Amino acid sequence: MRKTKIAGTGSYLPEKVLTNADLEKMIDTSDEWIRTRTGIKERRIVAQGQASSDLAYEASRKAMQAAQVKAEELDMIIVATITPDMIFPATACVLQEKLGVKGIAAFDLEAACSGFLYGITIGSQFIATGMYDNILVVAAEALSKIIDWKDRSTCVIFADGAGAAVLQPSFDNSGIISNYLGADGTGADLVGVPAGGSRLPASQETVRDRQHYMKMRGNGLFKRAVKAMIQAIDVSLEKGGLTYNEIDFFIPHQANIRIINPVAKRIGLDKNKVCINLDQCGNMSAASVAVALDQAVREGKIKKGDKVLLTCFGGGLTWASLVIEW
Ligand code: COA
Repeated sequence: MRKTKIAGTGSYLPEKVLTNADLEKMIDTSDEWIRTRTGIKERRIVAQGQASSDLAYEASRKAMQAAQVKAEELDMIIVATITPDMIFPATACVLQEKLGVKGIAAFDLEAACSGFLYGITIGSQFIATGMYDNILVVAAEALSKIIDWKDRSTCVIFADGAGAAVLQPSFDNSGIISNYLGADGTGADLVGVPAGGSRLPASQETVRDRQHYMKMRGNGLFKRAVKAMIQAIDVSLEKGGLTYNEIDFFIPHQANIRIINPVAKRIGLDKNKVCINLDQCGNMSAASVAVALDQAVREGKIKKGDKVLLTCFGGGLTWASLVIEW
C-alpha cells in the first residue's frame, strides 16, 4: 500500500467582504454579539452569478500550480460541497469541463463540514492501491446562496470560499499517518436545508415557508461538536500511534471559536499552533479546513516534517480527523 501526500494546496475567497457592521444594518444583531458568541469579524460572499464551481476552479488552479500538476495529468476529481451548482450533474463534472479535461472520474461528495477530510481520505485509498497518481480534492461552498438573510442565528455565521489539494503517492516520510471518519444520523435534524430534495420537492408552499434555506439548531450542535471533535482526535492519534504533544499544528473546522478553544485546550496546544481563520472567513463548511490549510502552508506556518492534525465536525452529523506529516 502506498502512502498519500498532499503535493500542493490552493484556495480562493470571493472579493466581496461582509463585515459585522454591514450585518448590523441588515438584521437585529451587533458586532459585539457576533464576535463574542462566534469569533467572526468578517466573511466573504460570492458575487451575483458566481457559483461553487467558479470558486472551485480558482482554488484548483492554484493547488495544481503548487503541485506542478497539469490538468491532463489528473486521474480523478472529488468536489466536497453542500452548495453544488445544481442538484445534478455533479459540480465535479462542471469543474472538470472548466479545467479542460475529459474522461477522468469526477464526483461530488456530501459530508457537510467534514467533506474535505472525507474527500482526502477517499482519494487516498485510490493512491494507496496504486490505481491513481494525481487526485484533485476540492471543497467549495457558496453558502450565502442557501442562507436565510432574515435568520440572524445563521446568516452571521456562514460564508463562501474554496480550498483544494492535489494528492499524490509519497515515497518518503511525508504523507497521511492516520485518518478517522464518523457519522451519526440521529443528529440529521440539527442542521440542513429541508426542501428541494425528493422528500419535499420545490413548491410554492416550500418557497413561501422559506424551506429552501438552511435551518440550524446551533445549541444542540454546539454540545455535540466539542465532544465529537475530541473523540475524533483521540481515535486518529491512537490509530497513528501518536500523542497530543507530538502534534505541531492543528487545523480545526472553523464553526465557532467557543468550540475550537476547548478542543485545543484539551489537546494542550499553544494558541500559535492552532489555525484560526474564522475571524476573517466565517464558517465555510467543507471549505473552512481546506482554505485554512492552504493559508497556513502559504504563510509558512507548516514546515516539512511537521505533524499536522486536521479535525472537522458538521451536518449529518459527520466528523473526521486526519494526521499528516508534511
Ligand atoms: N445577534 C444577536 N443575538 C442573537 C443572534 C445574533 N446574530 N443569534 C442568536 N441570537 C440570540 C438568540 O435569539 C438568543 O436570544 P434569547 O436568549 O433572547 O432567546 C441568544 O442570542 C442566544 O442564542 P443561542 O442560539 O443560545 O446562542 P449560542 O450561544 O448557542 O450561539 C451559535 C449560537 C449558532 C453561534 C452556536 O450555537 C454555535 O456555534 N453552534 C454550533 C454550530 C456548529 O457547530 N455547526 C456545525 C455545522 S456547520
